[in-house]
Amino acid sequence: MSNILCEFPYNDHKHIALVKLNRPKVLNALSTDLMRELVDKLFELDDNPEVRVIILTGNDRAFAAGADIAQMVEATPIDQINNNRFRSWQQLAQITKPIIAAVNGYALGGGCELAMHCDFIIAGDSAKFGQPEIKIGTTPGAGGTQRLTRAIGKSKAMMLAMTGEMIEAKQALDWGLVAKVVPSTTLMQETYETAKNIANKAPVAIKLIKESVNKAFEMSLSDGVDFERRNFYLTFSSSDQKEGMRAFLEKRDPEYKGN
Ligand code: CAA
Repeated sequence: MSNILCEFPYNDHKHIALVKLNRPKVLNALSTDLMRELVDKLFELDDNPEVRVIILTGNDRAFAAGADIAQMVEATPIDQINNNRFRSWQQLAQITKPIIAAVNGYALGGGCELAMHCDFIIAGDSAKFGQPEIKIGTTPGAGGTQRLTRAIGKSKAMMLAMTGEMIEAKQALDWGLVAKVVPSTTLMQETYETAKNIANKAPVAIKLIKESVNKAFEMSLSDGVDFERRNFYLTFSSSDQKEGMRAFLEKRDPEYKGN
């Protein structure tokens, strides 16, 4: 059975791909094979000119309950260095198209970290987030201490990582970890509506926004604003910028070509 499923389920929108984590018996525990398959699939979708937005999801019980503990329990540091355990995680940052995490159920440890690697998170009201690695004698390893701290601030990130406690979707919304909370039963429909909204925008400008927002975590304010300005100028070399502004002035819907 494949650890990853990929579908194009939205007949009225061929530009949206749905990727599902598929190890339901172990709450989508993120084995190294799963992570490799996930990254391979995301690279394939990133290279596919038809695809404009990717939705990443799990199932009703779990987005993912973390790295695969059974696979890690007896590992040595040298095994992990030799297996290049985090290579797939580093490669996630190379995807240029928007990825929306649609989270129902548990997003814990590596599962929370994977959701945070996505561009934003839409949570069903059943979602639970946390970094429980401390309960099994270790620490977050795929960016949790860094991304959670940037998302919700030091005090709350410290408390979650040190206690291993989970927070509910509503709390995650109040703390700024997720963009939106919706009823769990309508999560996929609501996420699709947001994906459709983005897929209908100029694709190159969307990629440049992703790049610019992500730079906010890496650069000083003045360097980041300079980076943003150059991306703004760059959009003026696209046909989509001309089309978007002309369509506005002509009071019609734009038709973007992605160039
Ligand atoms: N790895 C491997 N297997 C896991 C798993 C994980 N992270 N999480 C759950 N499973 C397995 C369980 O072992 C169980 O398998 P069996 O049916 O064969 O016994 C199955 O999934 C169902 O889990 P539970 O019976 O435990 O379900 P529950 O509803 O009672 O509890 C839970 C759910 C609270 C999420 C609990 O499963 C849990 O605490 N899971 C571990 C969470 C965790 O510690 N995650 C961090 C992992 S380390 C990490 O992620 C490091 C990193 O940053 C890279």
